[in-house]
Amino acid sequence: MSKQRLKFDLLVHDLKVPLAVIEAGATSLLQRMEKYGPLTDKQIKVMNRILRNTINTKRLVNDALELGRSSEGIIHKTQFLVSDFIEESLVEIFDLTDSEAAESIKDCANLTASKQALESRGIFLEIDEGLWCRKISLDESKIKQVLRNLLNNALKYRKNRIELTLQENDNALQISVADDGDGIPADYHERIFECYFQMDMEEQHCVRGHGLGLAGVMILVEDMGGTLNLESDLGQGTLFSVKIPY
Ligand SMILES: Nc1ncnc2c1ncn2[C@@H]1O[C@H](COP(=O)(O)OP(=O)(O)OP(=O)(O)O)[C@@H](O)[C@H]1O
Ligand SMILES: [Mg+2]
Repeated sequence: MSKQRLKFDLLVHDLKVPLAVIEAGATSLLQRMEKYGPLTDKQIKVMNRILRNTINTKRLVNDALELGRSSEGIIHKTQFLVSDFIEESLVEIFDLTDSEAAESIKDCANLTASKQALESRGIFLEIDEGLWCRKISLDESKIKQVLRNLLNNALKYRKNRIELTLQENDNALQISVADDGDGIPADYHERIFECYFQMDMEEQHCVRGHGLGLAGVMILVEDMGGTLNLESDLGQGTLFSVKIPY
């Protein structure tokens, strides 16, 4: 292992302690009100948001450290509900930008309610009831990372709408994210998957990222033995679809 790599892993490793302190603090405030004092309903919602994002971060830190153990990607398959995976990914996204949206997505009791909550935010979910209620066996944290990155890009670049479609084909899960944004010219279709590459678009997209999301998505999809497809051109919106075999 190079010195640079070791220093990087140590930095990630040292995030564990402050994260544990944040998690313990939030848990105490929520669960020991007799000691720390009562919280209002609004405060409880905020604390829960802090707690679930701390837990998500802890999972990412652990995944990052495990990645360091092997140059190959490690796959952790678990059984999980498709509905949970979709809802949790969306809640993680909206927790930052629109906490009301996050709460309303979290509170949905069934597919119809989830579709409605999303439609009012310009996200059109296409999935059949059978798949929505099914348990599948895949690397949940990796496919969440893939979906989150594709959705974050779509939210950043769309004009009005996003179509999120999930299907099962040939013993694989297919996830498509389509937006109605400016699109990606064919000349850039390979380069956008390079680390730190960002197309030089107009300044209208003030939320700048690092140009790492798609490079990461590509690697994660490859690790899971899947494929990624891009259909887009200038002025025609963008469609990313990934297919992950079970
Ligand atoms: N849905 C999309 N519509 C238009 N352009 C896109 C879309 N998704 C990605 N791109 C282009 O591809 C580039 C690379 O995307 P990528 O997700 O890797 O980086 P980023 O979103 O800029 O930053 P990061 O994901 O690291 O926060 C983007 O900067 C953008 O130019
Ligand atoms: Mg991105």
